[in-house]
Amino acid sequence: MIIVTGATGALGSATVRALLDRMPADQIGVSVRDTAKAADLAATGVRIRTGDFADPASLARAFEGADRVLVVSGSTLGPDGVAMHAAAARAAADAGAERVFYTAHQNTKADSPVAFSVDHAHTEAALAEIGTPWTSLRNGFYAHTVGWLIAGATETGELLLPEDGPISWTAREDLALADAVLLTDGPTFDGPTPALTATEAVTFEDVARTLSEVTGTTVRRTVIADDEWLARQTAAGMPDAAAQMMLGMFRGARAGEFDEVDPLLAQLLGREPVSIRAIIERTLA
Ligand SMILES: NC(=O)c1ccc[n+]([C@@H]2O[C@H](COP(=O)([O-])OP(=O)(O)OC[C@H]3O[C@@H](n4cnc5c(N)ncnc54)[C@H](OP(=O)(O)O)[C@@H]3O)[C@@H](O)[C@H]2O)c1
Repeated sequence: MIIVTGATGALGSATVRALLDRMPADQIGVSVRDTAKAADLAATGVRIRTGDFADPASLARAFEGADRVLVVSGSTLGPDGVAMHAAAARAAADAGAERVFYTAHQNTKADSPVAFSVDHAHTEAALAEIGTPWTSLRNGFYAHTVGWLIAGATETGELLLPEDGPISWTAREDLALADAVLLTDGPTFDGPTPALTATEAVTFEDVARTLSEVTGTTVRRTVIADDEWLARQTAAGMPDAAAQMMLGMFRGARAGEFDEVDPLLAQLLGREPVSIRAIIERTLA
């Protein structure tokens, strides 16, 4: 049986849907914090059990009978998040899983200037200690983030953002499908996968150009100082932590942390990954 955590979240639920296209529902289980949120999944026939990374006893039951477990990283950052993900991986091993999968990020490394990459690196180090084969899915940066950042740019004619660098924006639904392939009949990776990314890395200069082409309206890319951008975000109601995290993305991009591209995702999908142009068109539709 394949067990997926975070199945009431976006990536986890899409992964379960992709698994359902590949195998019978009675061979799929989900571990979710709130079973009430999993009513649509229950209707598909997959096994629903309660599991919270903060409660290893719940995971022992949620992972019962698991051959493979996909631990979808949660939203807790820092050492607490690392401890939760490590506990989930240990629970999967204790339940007898032959392989544990974990959703990390492209260019995960302990000395990264990007806080979540450091967390993922520490989780990968914990996975390596468990003694059960493991695969870390080095997911690319979710492309729908671009949709948030271009909001209003067509109206103002200006894409006003901090200094950036190339990012290989990757559609979350492509990552979910690739996860399902790797969980079932895809190639086996011991440890980290190559980066799972779209085929090109683009800057917001490129995004502004594509936005202009798609809309027929000129959108100019303008760089704003980090502090001024932060002040504007918080004034517009974005929580400080979220604004800081987003700024961390720009800083990481400047340092070249997200510019890697790799053909693996296309190979797993058997087609080209969703392009940034398609993401922009989808955002505007
Ligand atoms: N690659 C990227 O660019 C990128 C960007 C942002 C985030 N991420 C990471 O990728 C993960 C998956 O993305 P997503 O879009 O699917 O996020 P999401 O929709 O927020 O889903 C996260 C899932 O994690 C579950 N979760 C949180 N804390 C948990 C806990 N203590 N125990 C068990 N489950 C817990 C949530 O459960 P509930 O449904 O009960 O809330 C939710 O189902 C994120 O959580 C984050 O770690 C990656």
